[in-house]
Amino acid sequence: MENLAFLGLGRMGRAMAANLLAAGHSVTVWNRTRQRCDELVGKGARAAESPAEAVQSADAILYSLPDERAIGEVVFGWAGVLEGVRAGQLAIDLSTVHPDVSRRQKEAYTAEGVDFLDAPVFGSQPEAAAGGLWIVVGGDRAAYDRAAPIFRPLSVSTHYMGCTGQGAAMGLIGSLIVALQIQALGEGLVLARKAGLNLDEVLEVLALPDFRSPIFSGMGPGIVRRDFQAVFSLEHLHKDVDQVARLAEQLLVPVPASAAVREQVKAAVANGWGAENASALVKLLERQANVVLGEERRGPVGD
Ligand SMILES: NC(=O)c1ccc[n+]([C@@H]2O[C@H](COP(=O)([O-])OP(=O)(O)OC[C@H]3O[C@@H](n4cnc5c(N)ncnc54)[C@H](OP(=O)(O)O)[C@@H]3O)[C@@H](O)[C@H]2O)c1
Repeated sequence: MENLAFLGLGRMGRAMAANLLAAGHSVTVWNRTRQRCDELVGKGARAAESPAEAVQSADAILYSLPDERAIGEVVFGWAGVLEGVRAGQLAIDLSTVHPDVSRRQKEAYTAEGVDFLDAPVFGSQPEAAAGGLWIVVGGDRAAYDRAAPIFRPLSVSTHYMGCTGQGAAMGLIGSLIVALQIQALGEGLVLARKAGLNLDEVLEVLALPDFRSPIFSGMGPGIVRRDFQAVFSLEHLHKDVDQVARLAEQLLVPVPASAAVREQVKAAVANGWGAENASALVKLLERQANVVLGEERRGPVGD
């Protein structure tokens, strides 16, 4: 078993770090808000005072952070990862970020003799807790093979996508599809509500083979119950669709539906729902249609 450092103990990170500990790895953790380390220290982790300190004696370094800015601070910043690394280590970025961020990290790590993988994850908090994520990976094949025992307690499958940045690109393509599905579910439910359908029955029909999607079955019941507690926050979806737009712009790829959803996500965050679950995107559609989904009643609205 290996000495690991895990940085960023958010919804995803703390579950992944716990699974690495449970698998017998020795794990040093660091988080910007120090108290978030306590639960893992109780499970046998060691807490470090800075990213640089956390990574010093690690064989492999993992982190799960929201965006490019956080990576700038944690990896490139003062007392950051790059100040503590040494040749021969392996760094794994589990965050969903733009491929350029992965390539910038690869260059910096290579200068220090450190291997690097961009490895965003699919699945959410429940999958992270159950070691049931799906991981898409970019980087050198040898580094990917080396990471296999580390990925095993985190995931049900890993997918090698190619060189540095290809894991990140796949992560954003997944985000594009997820965002479109959340918007589709919201539009469908708002229209169904106005048409007077029972939303539990609508969700039953949306579970049929013609429509079924884990996004619909995962988010649908919460929307109908008006439970918007964040599992995957709307602000992270906002960041993701922004990065999809940046990638599509660079590659001159029209993404018209995604662009429309991006505007909706931006407006939902502007309305103050960023810290809620990504399914809170439906609140904007409710406002636009002047209807609230939780208020159950049969018959078309307005009759
Ligand atoms: N949640 C999901 O369902 C899901 C699914 C797939 C992919 N992802 C991706 O996984 C990554 C993590 O998501 P999450 O939901 O776990 O995020 P989260 O719950 O919001 O946690 C974010 C973590 O990053 C830290 N952080 C934020 N800004 C920082 C900064 N400037 N400097 C240092 N640390 C900073 C936070 O520290 P504090 O504790 O100090 O705030 C926290 O540990 C994101 O890239 C997300 O897109 C998430």
